[in-house]
Amino acid sequence: MRVLQVASEATPFAKTGGLADVAGALPEALADQGCDVTLVIPAYREVFAKGLPLEPTGIAFDVPLGTRQLPARIFRCVLPGSRVETLLVANDECFDRPSLYGGSEDYTDNSERFIFFSRAAMELAARQEMPYDIIHCHDWQTGLVPAYQKLLYSSSAAVQHARTVMTIHNMAYQGLFWHWDMLLTGLDWKYFNWQQMEFWGQLNLLKTGMVFADWLTTVSPTYAREIQRDPGGCGLEGVLASRSDVLTGIVNGIDTVAWDPRTDRHIPRPYSEQDFADGKYAARVALAVRLGHAAPDPRPLVAFVGRLVDQKGIDLVVDLLGRMAGSGRVRFVVLGTGHHHVEDSLRHVAAAFPGTIDLIIGFDEGLAHLVQAAADIMLVPSRYEPCGLTQLYALRYGAIPLVRATGGLVDTVVDTTPDTLQNGTANGFVFKSYDSHSLEQAVWRALDAHANGDLWSGLVRRAMLQDWSWDSSARDYLRVYEQIRVRS
Ligand code: ADP
Ligand code: GLC
Repeated sequence: MRVLQVASEATPFAKTGGLADVAGALPEALADQGCDVTLVIPAYREVFAKGLPLEPTGIAFDVPLGTRQLPARIFRCVLPGSRVETLLVANDECFDRPSLYGGSEDYTDNSERFIFFSRAAMELAARQEMPYDIIHCHDWQTGLVPAYQKLLYSSSAAVQHARTVMTIHNMAYQGLFWHWDMLLTGLDWKYFNWQQMEFWGQLNLLKTGMVFADWLTTVSPTYAREIQRDPGGCGLEGVLASRSDVLTGIVNGIDTVAWDPRTDRHIPRPYSEQDFADGKYAARVALAVRLGHAAPDPRPLVAFVGRLVDQKGIDLVVDLLGRMAGSGRVRFVVLGTGHHHVEDSLRHVAAAFPGTIDLIIGFDEGLAHLVQAAADIMLVPSRYEPCGLTQLYALRYGAIPLVRATGGLVDTVVDTTPDTLQNGTANGFVFKSYDSHSLEQAVWRALDAHANGDLWSGLVRRAMLQDWSWDSSARDYLRVYEQIRVRS
């Protein structure tokens, strides 16, 4: 089966969050299931800066964008560590910029940039000799792809029989732009109506994908249910409920090669579930050195790694730090980057407890691995969480996840209670109500468990042995593809 994956970021080329991890790992997992997979992503400035073996293909064409024609040049690279061909769409005006989507504020021309990318991906697909069975796109940046496949490329041999799948990684990011951007899409104004591309007077790219795709998936079964209701659907709950017969929730897997404490080159001493205490201690020493401390702190290490945005429950973390940092029982490390107001409130509380809170503002892949290895407890107190990968990496690195019961966190983390300890399902700590008191209670429960050495070691071992690899999730995607593909 020939599958084209279209995404706006993919590890290791370019990354702002979990979407990149999924788009960088799912293609190879599908290849393992026998699919012939090609990945298409934008060639951002940071992709060229990585020193990856990118080759010019010589393929170049103009892409219509409203009244203009924008040139696209195509580069090729095998997705590192895989057999998957990656095609990268270059255009300096759109992608030669310091960041993927903008910094604390989005770039004002993100609609042009990703309308261009979606159209370029379809142009590229249409130029291939072998037809695609499936075109699988991800999030609002590629939301036009299913519409293009049906409306503009229905007579192109390479894509006309393809079935389209749209994966929703986050309902809160919809690609909402003013209605005149409809002109940039090249699609007829008749599609700008409340049942297709319009949303309260604006152009909605995610909704477009959700309406035109043959099948919809999202990244966990619980999130698939949450988004069919208010507030999880972020205004599109009606669209989703009307398409619930073609909506599947599939939990993300993790790249078990890139995230493996037995072989991780970002940590000083590899470890497994057999010798995690030594490995984690070595990681703490390395982290202490990295943070400029004379020696590692013996107190339990509670960490947070993630985008500093409201979704991630950072206001609860700020409150928690204020409440607990003075207790003397625990040390905190926070690694993240995001909205300036969130960064500032963290800076404020970290400055009040210099010996207890380390705050690292920035995006650092290697440090994220080191923090996972060093931490005892990983906080994921999200307001909502479609799937979440941080808690899955944490399990593999023996950093026990402490999460709020929402979205994919419900589907992956089981609270530690006498019952779940006895039946062997406990792998973390869960709190329900979105308030810092509930979070704090859960942290104290985790610290009490940590003080019980045997109990904790058992929990860590079990967490590390759980299988969150892509195998079963890739099989679920393949089942979706098989179900919808046109058989010749
Ligand atoms: P989301 O996609 O909503 O950001 P996920 O948990 O699915 O959340 O994925 C987050 C990914 O981004 C993980 O791979 C995590 O390690 C990484 N990440 C987030 N913030 C940082 C950071 N500041 N430095 C390095 N990696 C980060
Ligand atoms: C989104 C979600 C996150 C999910 C990731 C990959 O960014 O916020 O929960 O894990 O996509 O699917």
